[in-house]
Amino acid sequence: MKTFKRLQLMAAFSFLLASCGTGDNGSAEADYQVVPLPDQIEMTEGKAFTLTGSTRITYPGGNEKMERNAAFLADFLELSTGIRPEITTDEAKKDAVILSLGLQDENPEAYRIQIDRQNIWIEGASEAAVFYGIQTLRKSAPVGNYSHVTFSPATITDAPRFGYRGMMLDVARHFQPVEFVKKYIDLLALHHINRFHWHLTDDQGWRIAIDAYPKLMEISSMRRETVIGRNTDEYDGTPHGGYYTKEELKDVVAYAAERYITIIPEVDLPGHMLAALAAYPELGCTGGPYEVARKWGVFEDVLCPGKEETFTFLEGVLTEVMEIFPSWYIHIGGDEAPKTRWEKCPDCQARIKELGLKDRNGHTAEHYLQSYVTARIEKFLNDHGRSIIGWDEILEGELAPNATVMSWRSMDGGIQAAQMGHDVIMTPTEYCYFDYYQTQDTEGEPLAIGGYVPLEKVYSFEPAPDQLTAEQKNHILGAQANLWTEYISDPEHVEYMTLPRLAAMSEVQWMQPGKKNYDDFLTRLPHLRALYDKLGYHYATHVFDEKSR
Ligand code: ACM
Ligand code: ZN
Repeated sequence: MKTFKRLQLMAAFSFLLASCGTGDNGSAEADYQVVPLPDQIEMTEGKAFTLTGSTRITYPGGNEKMERNAAFLADFLELSTGIRPEITTDEAKKDAVILSLGLQDENPEAYRIQIDRQNIWIEGASEAAVFYGIQTLRKSAPVGNYSHVTFSPATITDAPRFGYRGMMLDVARHFQPVEFVKKYIDLLALHHINRFHWHLTDDQGWRIAIDAYPKLMEISSMRRETVIGRNTDEYDGTPHGGYYTKEELKDVVAYAAERYITIIPEVDLPGHMLAALAAYPELGCTGGPYEVARKWGVFEDVLCPGKEETFTFLEGVLTEVMEIFPSWYIHIGGDEAPKTRWEKCPDCQARIKELGLKDRNGHTAEHYLQSYVTARIEKFLNDHGRSIIGWDEILEGELAPNATVMSWRSMDGGIQAAQMGHDVIMTPTEYCYFDYYQTQDTEGEPLAIGGYVPLEKVYSFEPAPDQLTAEQKNHILGAQANLWTEYISDPEHVEYMTLPRLAAMSEVQWMQPGKKNYDDFLTRLPHLRALYDKLGYHYATHVFDEKSR
């Protein structure tokens, strides 16, 4: 009787500890049903591995990336479970998480995790692959404060469907501090994303320090005030701006690279250039004066390709951009560039004449003038060993010979480009625009641009449609979500619009399409949510609220 009572008391006590989330919750079990779901999880016979304070992480000595991987794993496990394994290069026969290279797989991001009573073995085809194995293991771990975590014996075999798994963040409309950009990069890594498309210039702000053009920092980086709401005629009277120094940019590039994320910088041209024109009005068709935009939209004032100085400017800027960003891809924008100024500009018209451009195939001579700009910039970047990505408007007129197309207005541009043998990244508004509302009940929501892209819609996205042949599908490099920040000023709101939709996008990017299942995804999401809470990310709760109703 006495013993029974004591047991009851102990049970109540441990329940109390568990529910407080503080103190030692004792032991818990890992769950491999993570997001994105690994390709194969085979549960095997035998006893479980137990992670405790005496467990070690080993990695091959002399490999800096693997050393960093080991440190990431130690940090991640400590953060999730409270258990911090010691890191060593000693070969361990038992009680160790062993990180190694050498997995034979044609996919360089493939990894395998083998778990038995003695060890957890993460073997990758590359250091990046080992990192994804680490992310899977850390997401499997329970979130709490434990003295023991058991990992059931299993073999997990995994590799991504797409090599390009992207997320875009616009810091031109609202500047975001470096510390937050790093936290955002951590979030991308948690979702196995390997490309961070950084939208750094636009009408409302220029965010990259360029030595040759200092007025980009002095003038273009700051707008006088910002329109209130959706282009009401009222303004907040408060200057908004900021730019990243070269040291900061290089630091962020290195931070991302440590997490196997390539930063693709975007310098949007020839449109979306008002901020630069405000500093260098001689690069516009009318000569200005221009002002850094205080409201949102598509502006008629764009760069003047009739003037040679425009190309001197762009090549100067891109030369410095290449010094900062080692990415093979440089995004040159190309979207939403009205042709109205070019139609009236003597310099542009002289250029059109000189090049012999004519209206044809449903496009005007001015469209072909934009193609000329794109092709000329492409050649400049190709000559420096880089390659361009442009928004799908670069298809209008003549597509630059080596361009990769980012299809945003719909899938059509991407389909057309793939049929022409060009590489494509799919990011259509309908599935991939995270600035759109996540619910139809917008009353209680923070202001958004409009639209409706709920979690399930993101999840249903198929980036390689069946209109394409197998060969053409090979040109679909991957998918990306975009977050434009006209209506998003602070980091918490950026996170709220991103999560949990990024979780759905990660399954689109990572999983084989036949294995995706939305209902199953919903059962796996709460565990990831616990990690969002632990890591201090803000997220939308609609999908969780609906489930509990
Ligand atoms: C875009 O959304 N203007 C690419
Ligand atoms: Zn012009």
